[in-house]
Amino acid sequence: MRTETGPVIRLEDYRPSDYLIDTTGLHFTLHPTASKVRAVLAVRRREGVASGAPLVLSGDDLALDALRVDGEAWPDEHHTATPDALTIRNLPDARTFVIEIETILDPSANKQLMGLYRSSDTYCTQCEAEGFRRITYYLDRPDILSVFTVRMEARVEDAPLLLSNGNRIESGLLDNGWHYAVWHDPFPKPSYLFALVAGNLGVVKDSFTTMSGRQVALEIYVEHGKEPRAGYAMDALKRSMRWDEEVFGREYDLDIFMIVAVSDFNMGAMENKGLNIFNDKYVLADARTATDADYANIEAIIAHEYFHNWTGNRITCRDWFQLCLKEGLTVFRDHEFSADQRSRTVKRISEVKLLKAHQFPEDAGPLAHPVRPRRYTEINNFYTATVYEKGSEVVRMIRTILGVEQFRKGLDLYFERHDGDAATIEDFLRAFEDASGMDLGQFSLWYEQPGTPNLIVASEYDAQAQRFTLRVDQKLKPPVEGAPHAPMHIPVKFGLVGEASVDLTWSAVSGADISEDVIHLREPRHEIVFYGIAERPVASLLRGFSAPVTVFPEPDDDALTFLARNDPDEYARWQALASLVTRQIKNAVAIGMPVSGPVLGRTACEVLMEIADADGYEPAYRALCLTLPGENDVAREIGDDIDPEVVHAIHRAASRQLGAHGETLFARLYHGLAPNSAYSPDAESAGRRSLRNIALSYLCHARAEIDLAAEAFAAADNMTDRAHALGLLAHLAPTNQATLDALDSFRTEFRDDPIVMDKWLMIQATAPGATTLETVRKLTAEPAFSWDNPNRIRSLIGAFATGNPTGFNRADGEGYRFLCEAIARIDANNPQVSARLLTAMRSWRNLESGRREQARAAMAALAERKNLSRDLKDILERTLA
Ligand code: PHE
Ligand code: ZN
Repeated sequence: MRTETGPVIRLEDYRPSDYLIDTTGLHFTLHPTASKVRAVLAVRRREGVASGAPLVLSGDDLALDALRVDGEAWPDEHHTATPDALTIRNLPDARTFVIEIETILDPSANKQLMGLYRSSDTYCTQCEAEGFRRITYYLDRPDILSVFTVRMEARVEDAPLLLSNGNRIESGLLDNGWHYAVWHDPFPKPSYLFALVAGNLGVVKDSFTTMSGRQVALEIYVEHGKEPRAGYAMDALKRSMRWDEEVFGREYDLDIFMIVAVSDFNMGAMENKGLNIFNDKYVLADARTATDADYANIEAIIAHEYFHNWTGNRITCRDWFQLCLKEGLTVFRDHEFSADQRSRTVKRISEVKLLKAHQFPEDAGPLAHPVRPRRYTEINNFYTATVYEKGSEVVRMIRTILGVEQFRKGLDLYFERHDGDAATIEDFLRAFEDASGMDLGQFSLWYEQPGTPNLIVASEYDAQAQRFTLRVDQKLKPPVEGAPHAPMHIPVKFGLVGEASVDLTWSAVSGADISEDVIHLREPRHEIVFYGIAERPVASLLRGFSAPVTVFPEPDDDALTFLARNDPDEYARWQALASLVTRQIKNAVAIGMPVSGPVLGRTACEVLMEIADADGYEPAYRALCLTLPGENDVAREIGDDIDPEVVHAIHRAASRQLGAHGETLFARLYHGLAPNSAYSPDAESAGRRSLRNIALSYLCHARAEIDLAAEAFAAADNMTDRAHALGLLAHLAPTNQATLDALDSFRTEFRDDPIVMDKWLMIQATAPGATTLETVRKLTAEPAFSWDNPNRIRSLIGAFATGNPTGFNRADGEGYRFLCEAIARIDANNPQVSARLLTAMRSWRNLESGRREQARAAMAALAERKNLSRDLKDILERTLA
């Protein structure tokens, strides 16, 4: 494992490689502890490079077994091999030559889950970002595109299935119970997109006819017996393929597309060319085991990885600084897909909630970085909400600025120009500029400047002159000292809402560039004057969350109430309501009110009830409106000196208050929405379930009893209702006998199904209160938990640290010490997972002073330990800096 602190890699130091690899042959002889790899590389010296230039190939934890150049064993004095590099000198003068490298790997000992490893006896690989160098020495960088041919040999008994990228061109039996298969991928690709899977798995098959009439075989591989749970993933895949043709004109390019679900995986899934590898929780679903949220995630991630075939694979990244080129764009595409498959407003609201919950705190804390970072020591630590989610928002803003048509033209030009390239953000932006004639120079700062811009607004209405003035200052508080903060191009979608719930029109406007419903802010300050405004309007700003910014001050309570009721834009109504409720909870925390008093104002409660009762709205929208901001959201809005206990107490009081206020209505909703047909995962049915379940939550809060939840748990015929009821039981009455019984029966039913038991772990880990830490400790000894599996770790320890504000932030600091000890233990095996777990502490400086000191001390103690991984050290140092 890499424990030394790595060098700083800088964007400005990029230079093309001296050598290229035109073709890559890989020969695997698979063995559980001693797999042999022979790489045959057709290397070419780039034009203009001196013939004596040494060839430096990257490795990670490798040992060289043999090296040949053009068929000759290469003398020791002409090369140097270390675990992380192979330097070859005195290469032939000819511009092209063949290098053969042999390495031997122990996939069973590979606990980092990078490179070649085993997951429940299946051989599989993970190469992004720099895992390929754990398989063989290579020019392991995304701008080296090579045509791969892969031959695998294995014992038929161990691995009847042999898969790699592209098309299977040969297979057959060998002596002694062995067999082989050869796969060829005609599309040149960087090494991070290489994949291999060998094992004994079940398969679900289907096919897809592309827009030009080609037949594509679709295969999803899962553990034997789980085939029936892959049906939804297959359906989502076919819908993704069709959608990408219809909406972006992108057709699939190979004759086969495969997905393999594995149970040990560091991330969600991986877009390897033609052979996506998935964390099994994002493939497997049925009514009994998966929630509506699971189904939605599966749909989104299947789409995401499939969409990468064009945005990531056909056009890849020049270097890892350009990660958002593929990730931001692909997240944008999967968001649009889900919006089209489900409800657009509901999807947008969920995206914004997630962005604010994950990306805003990242951008406001010690781990802040630009959407395109300029330096890193460990690239694994840059698969972040900023690169992915804010990266997607930046693409969305380009569409807002250009309009749907010009945006599509720009994207078409990008595909046309750069197909087969390793491209940059500059290439991407240029395609939009050239297609639209627009200048995106100032806009490009969104890729360069970290931090969330703040819009400071003030307005004034002059009835006599019929003039409405809106003043907007943009302030970018640099989260990182010395970071640039020049004014940005911020598209603000808006409307001026009049009494009659319509957007007012104006006769003229000055002070900013306005196209249709978008104000283009470009200056530090704009004074925008609208003429011919016949009545005092309420400005509805940032509709659809048109830019990832904050607005200050938000409108006063009356204006927010007005917007929540009257804004013609449905998203904006939710936004107004959410702002209103959040502010009232926040104010109650600030005055430290007694928790028996009302937290929410009468009017806010009334607006909430109107929406809860409005059959004109989709149930999913009503459920979102009724969901109070989470305790972490409230804490984020408060900003600093946070006492999670107080936030929790006020939050509970608000739930009780609202429950009591709407008890009759909630009872009517709960009973009225009872299912009258078999479970279906479609968005509409899911919406009804979410409204019904939130009604149930309020009833339990109002009545301070859990009988109804216990009944719902027993009656549930699907995991959505069941997990929701179990959550209520465990969070409202953790020691009640009914809760213990329910937890027990859940375990009995699902003990052999790890991804379902993850819910059991997570529900218990997020039960509020100081004693949960003891529960979590005990759960680490349960068979349902394993220190080796990333999903188990995230469900128990990750959920505790990020989803249990009172339990984790115990005033005595035990929560922090527990997390840091767990991290040290995990780090010895899996640095990617340990480093990511530590990001749970990124907002430690916002806590009240006692907890702040406890958190600092726990991290400082962790930093004292020897042999921490490079990944973890990087996060630790930045968090403490
Ligand atoms: N590229 C993957 C995705 O976003 C994420 C990933 C990164 C997976 C690194 C594994 C390792 O689709
Ligand atoms: Zn991705």
